[in-house]
Amino acid sequence: MRKPFVAGNWKMNTNSQTSVELVKCIACGSVETAGQSVTVAVCPPFVYLQAVAKALSSSNIAVGAQDIYFESDGAFTGEISASMLKDVGCSYCICGHSERRHIIGESDELINKKVTAAIAGGLLPILCVGELIEEREASQTNKVVTRQVKKGLAGLSVEKLRAVTIAYEPVWAIGTGLTATPEQAQEVHDFIRKLLAEMYDGELAEEIRILYGGSVKPNNAADLMSQKDIDGSLVGGASLKADDFLAIIQAAA
Ligand code: PGA
Repeated sequence: MRKPFVAGNWKMNTNSQTSVELVKCIACGSVETAGQSVTVAVCPPFVYLQAVAKALSSSNIAVGAQDIYFESDGAFTGEISASMLKDVGCSYCICGHSERRHIIGESDELINKKVTAAIAGGLLPILCVGELIEEREASQTNKVVTRQVKKGLAGLSVEKLRAVTIAYEPVWAIGTGLTATPEQAQEVHDFIRKLLAEMYDGELAEEIRILYGGSVKPNNAADLMSQKDIDGSLVGGASLKADDFLAIIQAAA
């Protein structure tokens, strides 16, 4: 019922040449799956969005931004609006990635404004949530995730929630080579889906895709995505290698 979704978060990597080469390889190797059995998106740095979107124009791979600003235009030095992202060919937008929460200091309130603005601007937000290692060790995972989901989605109607994808990314698993076990991840995904059912309704909660992120690699992707409530993955490091990313797409199919 929920189509698997694999998104690549390139973070602050690639350049004008390698970004285009990378997506050409990904497009070439996923002709049979991308946009068909699996939704596939890549999220390059802002400055390469347009070139990447152009290189993907005849493919079924979507383009997403790694961040967004909630205002539509004006004196906001350095920021990028939803309409600008649409203009260069984006359909998705990551909101509240843990690196933005913990390095840049984004709050749940700011992230909620970004999610809301993304939807208002016709983009599909990927809301990232996840606990720090000390929060997990203190058995605070559910509490942290509840706060991030509730505050991140505050004020969204049932209709608007349909635009949202959630990514559960335990912070301790991001870029560390440590992965949540499929069982650990499934437990939190199940918890998030039940939370959505409580906040909205059970049927809608069954429609929302919840991706897992945190050191997803070709050798663990299939096990993770075979879990009942894991509907795909948000891939960092492995999305920078065409062969690895293609293997993860294949594992989702
Ligand atoms: P990683 O990053 O796959 O390199 O752990 C995932 C993410 O930050 O989305």
